[in-house]
Amino acid sequence: MKALVVGGGGREHAIVRALRRSAHAPEVLCAPGNAGIAADAECLPEIAADDVEALVAAARERRVDLAVIGPELALVAGVVDALEEAGIPAFGPSRAAAELEGSKAFAKELMEEAGVPTAAHVLLRSREEAVEQLARVPYPTVLKADGLAAGKGVILCANEAEALAAIEVFFTEQRFGQTTVVLEELLEGEELSLLALCDGENVVPLAPAQDYKRIFDGDEGPNTGGMGSYSPVPGFDQAQIESIVDRVHRPVVAAMARRGRPFHGVLYAGLMIGADGPKVLEFNTRFGDPETQAVLPRMRSDLVDLFLAAREPGGLAGMSAEFDPAWAVTLVLASAGYPESSSKGDVIHGLAEAAELAELTHAGTAERDGEIVTAGGRVLNVTALGDGPAEARDRAYDAASRISFAGMQIRTDIAARAVERASSQST
Ligand code: AMP
Ligand code: GLY
Repeated sequence: MKALVVGGGGREHAIVRALRRSAHAPEVLCAPGNAGIAADAECLPEIAADDVEALVAAARERRVDLAVIGPELALVAGVVDALEEAGIPAFGPSRAAAELEGSKAFAKELMEEAGVPTAAHVLLRSREEAVEQLARVPYPTVLKADGLAAGKGVILCANEAEALAAIEVFFTEQRFGQTTVVLEELLEGEELSLLALCDGENVVPLAPAQDYKRIFDGDEGPNTGGMGSYSPVPGFDQAQIESIVDRVHRPVVAAMARRGRPFHGVLYAGLMIGADGPKVLEFNTRFGDPETQAVLPRMRSDLVDLFLAAREPGGLAGMSAEFDPAWAVTLVLASAGYPESSSKGDVIHGLAEAAELAELTHAGTAERDGEIVTAGGRVLNVTALGDGPAEARDRAYDAASRISFAGMQIRTDIAARAVERASSQST
């Protein structure tokens, strides 16, 4: 069997490794891949993750049996529709189903229809409308770009002046291409990432994870794509996971089916768990990065079987995803300037030593003259497993301490909360 993973980050590296553990023993290709993925898969560096035509051509030529799509841009560009039309089995949502991530306004409308709990919101369709609304709402409040923004389209505003400045950015900056901005109520509580595999009808939850979005310790500084993660999450047992999936994922999958946009693939709910239960912050229609790096190493079920089943309407009936009870902690090593910018070409030291202590997945790396150098904002992920969160965390930080490159950024408090919680539960 031959599998093609689309993308070139830490998430895709983790997916490549999990596919290689399958009993189907697939030969794995990755487009475009990166310098680290090249050790585990045949990379196709000339093919961008959202170049639909080139991906279909390569999948045909190489007779791929299963394509797995990592990044949202490729899904929203319709890569799954194009691959399936060409007869190549592809795991992921159609373009129409990926709109759940591609448009926050669509996601809000669908949640309302499906009765899924989420923050109260209003859509702002012009600057004038925004100015009028912003004079009336309580602060702090939240403003979100409607479309894809690589984790940088959400601004928490403490007061009206900050909100007006955010509106200015959303309606003028080209990268947001905005005609709509979502204004929503600020939710308080604890965040949880709950991903589930879907086959258009059934929902199979994966192990829960927590993600650290801000760049600095103590959740300070701007939002990033994610600076670390861990799994499982203290306080969320199987019964609670099932109850969340009943209130969130299952009604959404049913509503999408009613709309003729059956949802196949990973439905990732970003949740805020507050005093009155879980509320949805956002949906993603793909694996999370860096949650996947902490979740997949714990998976015991065969990922190829689950991916193939999820393509068939109702194919996941009776299936479940099983996880090792071990804990996983993932640290992200980012380059200087991230998230505003990133630094490229800095030589990375200590990889071999670190790899003996933990699992390294590469995000933004490249090879230059036989050396591995930085090539993006998030550079590397270090994942360690342990019997408890403290052991996993200590191992991950020990391994990360062996790695260095100019301007390296790492948070020092990843999973500290889980360690505290687990120790207070056991005393
Ligand atoms: P999103 O991309 O919508 O998940 O937002 C990114 C991050 O912004 C979330 O993980 C939260 O930390 C924060 N956030 C988004 N929406 C809200 C909200 N309504 N209330 C509080 N925090 C939010
Ligand atoms: N970790 C957040 C995301 O993948 O969007």
